[in-house]
Amino acid sequence: SRAPVFRRFLTTANNKNVAFAFDIDGVLIKGSKTIPQAQEALQLLNNEKVPWVLVTNGGGKTERERVQDLSQRLGGIDIPEDQFMQSHTPFKRLVDLYKGKVLIVGGDGDDCRKVAKLYGFKNPVIGADIIRKHPSIWPFHRYRREEIEQWADPSINVDDGEPFDAILVFNDPRDMGTEIQIILDLLLSENGVLGTRRKTHTSRPSIPIHFSNKDLLWSNDYPIARFGQGAFKATIDTLYETTTEGYKLESVVIGKPFKETYDYAHNLLVKKFKENQNISSISAKISAPTVYMVGDNPASDILGANGYGWRSVLVRTGVYQDGADLQGAKPTVILDNVLDAVKYGLEN
Ligand code: G3P
Ligand code: MG
Repeated sequence: SRAPVFRRFLTTANNKNVAFAFDIDGVLIKGSKTIPQAQEALQLLNNEKVPWVLVTNGGGKTERERVQDLSQRLGGIDIPEDQFMQSHTPFKRLVDLYKGKVLIVGGDGDDCRKVAKLYGFKNPVIGADIIRKHPSIWPFHRYRREEIEQWADPSINVDDGEPFDAILVFNDPRDMGTEIQIILDLLLSENGVLGTRRKTHTSRPSIPIHFSNKDLLWSNDYPIARFGQGAFKATIDTLYETTTEGYKLESVVIGKPFKETYDYAHNLLVKKFKENQNISSISAKISAPTVYMVGDNPASDILGANGYGWRSVLVRTGVYQDGADLQGAKPTVILDNVLDAVKYGLEN
């Protein structure tokens, strides 16, 4: 169980015996706006030496770029990279599994290819590479000539007959039509070779597809919650089922509310506790801390936290609206904003 691990690493520095995991969109920021109480909330925890991590279902940039950007938006507060994870961070673990071509989906330009390379993927291919060679694969694609020149890698030969090993959806696609068509082509191909079609159907696609988040909705600065990667997944699922005349697509899904993502976040918190231990006295207090997840989305943040044995605080600054059906994702408490959530966790 998790508790003994924490017990070993708990230090006197955290005499409040509590730790926090924060969602980002709808809790710390909202599109181009920053939640006014966010900086003070994190500062308060730093002052109290309480461990915290950020766990977002967002993504699309490297972890380093993302923490730098966030730090700037939060008044310069330090956000160490090892206190941050995004939806696709656990994809690092797939590097040894998929050594051949991998279709990288989503994000701006070729940003997610850069992330994939940083993680160690050897042959990441993006939509622009395929459109460059075969513009008619999706005749309505949205790529301009200069974008193809900028983002596509001409050294990639998509017609070499080598199969794709897998499809990894890093982030919400920017040209959904292109991505939908190419993904379905590969799922229904002969062993992952682009431009082929397999003869028979089953629920298992020709190559695996991994989604990094299944949020139907997320919260930006538009007044109503927006469709997220989960809406894209629903589209792929529906088209697969329709095309195969009834087979439901098998896929791998991570991100909140799934355990794999909470395990990853848990390990980051354990590491933080370890660090504190090095700077603390030997007379460490021995008890497992309570972890509070602060989130705005009942279906991901709250459901996942409850299932993982954490406490959960649902805030009113994002997806959740008062009176909405919580559909089995009942938080420990509902509060106005992230600062109230931190104060609540510290006091309880
Ligand atoms: O695309 C972002 C989104 O689905 C959720 O982000 O920070 O609320 O988990 P976050
Ligand atoms: Mg959120």
